[in-house]
Amino acid sequence: RTILLNNQMIQAEDAHIHIEDRGFQFGDGIYEVIKVYNGSLFTIKEHIDRFYTCAEKLQIVIPYTKDLLHKMLYDLVEENELEVGHVYMQITRGVASRTHFFPSDVAPTFVAYTQQGDRPLQNLQRGVRTIFDEDIRWLRCDIKSLNLLGAVLSKQKAHEQGCYEAILHRDGVITEGSSSNIFGIKDGVLYTHPVNNYILNGITRHVLLQCCEEIGLPVVEEAMTCERALEMDELLLTSTTSEVTPIIEVDCHPIADGLPGEWTRRLQQAFELKVK
Ligand code: PDD
Repeated sequence: RTILLNNQMIQAEDAHIHIEDRGFQFGDGIYEVIKVYNGSLFTIKEHIDRFYTCAEKLQIVIPYTKDLLHKMLYDLVEENELEVGHVYMQITRGVASRTHFFPSDVAPTFVAYTQQGDRPLQNLQRGVRTIFDEDIRWLRCDIKSLNLLGAVLSKQKAHEQGCYEAILHRDGVITEGSSSNIFGIKDGVLYTHPVNNYILNGITRHVLLQCCEEIGLPVVEEAMTCERALEMDELLLTSTTSEVTPIIEVDCHPIADGLPGEWTRRLQQAFELKVK
């Protein structure tokens, strides 16, 4: 497998990360996951824009222009002959003797690699089971930080209960999933948490809102309580890798009749047209 380490394409076996890389010691960096369909990077511009925006929030300077990064990622996909899967990329503040404050004169470490993987067709078709879990993450969830312990603990809890995702809430108000955005549909209106520091501004979320407009489904960007979520006609989640996935159960309570709903199916169809 050929990977990118800084601006070099090398074999994965030849890549070495320093023990004092701040990504390794502090989680001091950010990442992106970009889906590849038919050898093409889906919503690449949006992912690159978010990568730069998040880096800026941490005062990490990405040493490439957006155009160059775009080209580097396409070359990587081509080199690995990737048809369907994703690209993972991250940047950390770099290597320095361990101190909490930002070291001066440090060059960031950039890594990107491809991962082959089929689309989650079974989940898209049948829907997934979920749990509620308290959102114990920090207050800057708008930053796609390498610090994922809150998400990891919630996802593990879901996994142990045979569920796909944990729906996170702060004091009973749903924010997002551990690695996805969450939506409810009630009486022909779609509800989702507004974009602020409590959620990641999901790119698939944005695509979904475009799909809503296309199919004539009104959107209200208003958070749902857990109680209200259970009374929805339909629940769904989005992410780069999960696309538009129906949620059929939360904490063993079926949503409506426990089957993917009509609006969700229409949203999936509208989404499908975009990735074709
Ligand atoms: N997760 N919210 C959180 C906390 C996420 O980690 C993700 C993505 C999303 C959805 O964002 P997008 O639609 O831009 O992928 C929302 C990625 C896929 C991951 O960590 O693997």
